[in-house]
Amino acid sequence: MGRVHLAHLLHFLIFMPATSASAPGKGILFGEHAVVYGRPAIAVPIKQVKATAIVRPLINEHSGFVRIQAEQINLDSTLPDLSENNPIALAVRSTLDALKVNQPPAFHLRISSTIPIGGGLGSGAAISVAVIRGVSSFLGKSLETERISELAFDVEKLYHGNPSGIDNTVVAFEKPVYFVKGDPSEFIDLKEAFTLVIADTGKSTPTRDTVAFVRSAWEADKQKFEALFTAIGECTKRARQILTAGNPTDLGPLMDDNHFHLQAMGVSSPELDNLVVTARQEGALGAKLSGGGRGGNIIALVRNNGDSERIKATLTHAGATGTIVARVQ
Ligand code: MEV
Repeated sequence: MGRVHLAHLLHFLIFMPATSASAPGKGILFGEHAVVYGRPAIAVPIKQVKATAIVRPLINEHSGFVRIQAEQINLDSTLPDLSENNPIALAVRSTLDALKVNQPPAFHLRISSTIPIGGGLGSGAAISVAVIRGVSSFLGKSLETERISELAFDVEKLYHGNPSGIDNTVVAFEKPVYFVKGDPSEFIDLKEAFTLVIADTGKSTPTRDTVAFVRSAWEADKQKFEALFTAIGECTKRARQILTAGNPTDLGPLMDDNHFHLQAMGVSSPELDNLVVTARQEGALGAKLSGGGRGGNIIALVRNNGDSERIKATLTHAGATGTIVARVQ
């Protein structure tokens, strides 16, 4: 190896070590869909699952070369080979733009995630945030959390069409949030921790499709849908009071009400309803679908006394393809 090449290699090893960044999943406690129509929603980070981005220098490639690999979605490509509509490519390109880096040192970005894809748990937003964090930290630069959230929001538009911004906000800030579209985010200091059992139907419908479905249903019957959104908004407001005052077990009936309104909206499914009913029968304090619906996950609020393992096992028996016990604090 020539001296110049060796010096180059040493430079990378010393100044450009591999970096790893991650971002959590999220659960919407209250207000999905209604939040797109200006009503408040509450989301919490689900830290038991995460997306990870590992960025390594590629010492034998020319600057500007970027290889992106995500085995779980069979992606292995260079950046220029990915279209403008590829969400991961967009996250990388907008990070480079935001940092005003035209020709980054060659790098390899590897993405993995333990968040079920398309399950309403924020996998898309978490991958974007992990990628933005990973690429910026590899370049030795940092971006404010608000900026990371904004960049992830632009990517969300590809996933969702018309996103409210709640997913990128809760995933980037990693804090419970009371969210109203267009307003500054209000982060909630939980008075008391609580436990959720999350169960996957194993089916999924892209959020873009459920959001589009609600849009056309709303256009066809604005009176009905506005009333549903308002009823959901009332659940969310009451939930915020409970979360800041303590006694989170009182959230249960509100979750049941919210699920009822989501059913009326047409975004539940037999699989979601089955898991919701099973969780309640098994002693959950309340349960609802979480996220876009028509598949994906339910969340069930459980007592902090060991109920979670039993409820989790029963949900698996009832058909859940995956379960997570999440302590929210
Ligand atoms: C998706 O996690 C939540 C929805 O309300 C869509 C959005 O807010 O962008 C269904």
